[in-house]
Amino acid sequence: MNSTIRVLKGHRSIRRYKRKAIAVRVLDEVIECGLRASSSGNLNTWSVVVTTKKDLKKRLYHLHKEQEMVLEAPVVLTVCADFRRTRRWIKLRKARDAFDDFTSFMVAAVDATLAAQNMTIAAESLGLGVCYMGTTLWSAPGISKLLRLPDNVVPITSLVVGYPAENPAVRGRLPRDFLVHRERYQELADRALLKSFGEREESGWERYRSMPTVLREIERRGIKSLAEYYTSDAKYPKSLHRRTSREYLALLKRKKFWNH
Ligand SMILES: Cc1cc2nc3c(=O)[nH]c(=O)nc-3n(C[C@H](O)[C@H](O)[C@H](O)COP(=O)(O)O)c2cc1C
Repeated sequence: MNSTIRVLKGHRSIRRYKRKAIAVRVLDEVIECGLRASSSGNLNTWSVVVTTKKDLKKRLYHLHKEQEMVLEAPVVLTVCADFRRTRRWIKLRKARDAFDDFTSFMVAAVDATLAAQNMTIAAESLGLGVCYMGTTLWSAPGISKLLRLPDNVVPITSLVVGYPAENPAVRGRLPRDFLVHRERYQELADRALLKSFGEREESGWERYRSMPTVLREIERRGIKSLAEYYTSDAKYPKSLHRRTSREYLALLKRKKFWNH
């Protein structure tokens, strides 16, 4: 055990925040750690948009489906896949035009994700709390417009960052042995697969049923299990996922990540 491992193993998403600003030097340190993440070809094909202004946060709050923490936390970091700088540099140097394809998007998305996670760990090590915002993908076109992301830049994920106003317990994970495959992938038998989800089925179901608004939805829709809840219109509606997929693909094409 060392302090890095303590931070990693102590991670919990924070969803309630104190209304306390983050000092510029603290935020700079967090972002600096994002910059230290590995990056394909060391091209650093990511960018982060730092939002602190109330009016912009309010608009992000709506785009993030009214998740209160977007308003509460003093900072929202929108982490983007960004090949724009590289492509402009290449053009200015009169090198061959490239990186206008889906592979470049994936390269940049991985860079952005690694930077986001480095910033998360750095923030947590400094006593800050963080929560990722999956709604970034749901609202990618709107976020792109609001933050004026140019061609070859698309949002990948967002982090709300601030001082925690809650102290939740560390949340469980699926058992390690079910995630780790020795030498080759081992498909689980049905019974083992159900066992791997066993504890989650109980604790997750209990947790969601303990939330009054969620419980109302569960009862109203006649949802009988955690698996049913995850695929219901109350949690991850299939129609929303389909729409997100279509819109994100269209965004990639518009932003010139699909010129072939
Ligand atoms: C890419 C990504 C998107 C997420 N989006 C949301 C979100 O929109 N709202 C939210 O409350 N939590 C969100 N989370 C947090 C997860 O729900 C959380 O990581 C998970 O439940 C495990 O809890 P823990 O982070 O406290 O260990 C997201 C996490 C990731 C990695």
